[in-house]
Amino acid sequence: MDEDRRNTTIRTRVDGRVGWITLDRPEALNALNSEVAREVVAAALAFDADEGIGAIVITGSDRAFAAGADIKAMEGLTGRDVAVGNHFHAWQSFADVRTPVIAAVAGYALGGGCELAMMCDVILAADTARFGQPEITLGVIPGMGGTQRLVRAVGYFKAAELVLSGRIVEADEAERIGLVSRVVPAEALHEEAAALAAAIASKPLPALYAAKAALDAALEAPLAEGLRLEKHLFASLFDTADQKEGMAAFREKREPRFTHR
Ligand code: CAA
Repeated sequence: MDEDRRNTTIRTRVDGRVGWITLDRPEALNALNSEVAREVVAAALAFDADEGIGAIVITGSDRAFAAGADIKAMEGLTGRDVAVGNHFHAWQSFADVRTPVIAAVAGYALGGGCELAMMCDVILAADTARFGQPEITLGVIPGMGGTQRLVRAVGYFKAAELVLSGRIVEADEAERIGLVSRVVPAEALHEEAAALAAAIASKPLPALYAAKAALDAALEAPLAEGLRLEKHLFASLFDTADQKEGMAAFREKREPRFTHR
């Protein structure tokens, strides 16, 4: 495993085919300011451009995945500042990466922290994790996709209750309502995330990209359009070396040796 590389607000490392991004602003419970956005997006895009990486894990500390957008940095802004500055726009590039992303969440995932987790493909939650969209108590609403992604994740009535009340849910409730993929004991969070990420990253990269693109379409496109995309992506995978290898390995009753091409 590589040594941690330290930026100002994050640490990154590579472990086999898995790229790790650790939010590291403990003094602000990993609150997301523009520097965090810049560093996380740069790290994610670098991993995404690297064919040696088949999965990305983003995580925080034991106490907080991220306690939201940085309230102190936003407090003095005007509506024009936020609109003209296109305030959270940078995060869209994180949501757009082709590589599967796992959020490994312990402690608070509030506001923008919950929204950041929902930009990922899998959310593994420690039993200490707490999720919520408390923006309403600050006189605003979720601004990093929360009103849209939470409805898609948990359905309108659960999402509306959480966004309108700002109520924070514990990990077990988050799992029950479909906001997290799986809850694990806090002490096993990183081990479980590493195992899942390694399992995903060992799969053929062209198929991973296609699967993520097709899954994304399920959240965005009308059914007919999503089905058309799935059909196209499915067909395109038959021109990859990994499809030939995967199916030959099945026929020959052996483990596949993927080249990620
Ligand atoms: N922005 C800036 N600083 C934050 C922060 C945030 N979102 N969350 C925590 N901090 C800072 C605190 O100000 C505090 O700093 P100081 O020591 O300098 O005072 C430090 O982190 C530790 O926090 P607390 O002392 O408050 O810790 P706690 O354990 O008592 O409480 C908490 C933890 C319940 C998470 C509380 O910090 C909290 O309520 N945080 C804000 C949560 C929130 O409202 N998030 C939504 C933000 S708006 C948003 O995200 C918009 C969007 O849609 C993108």
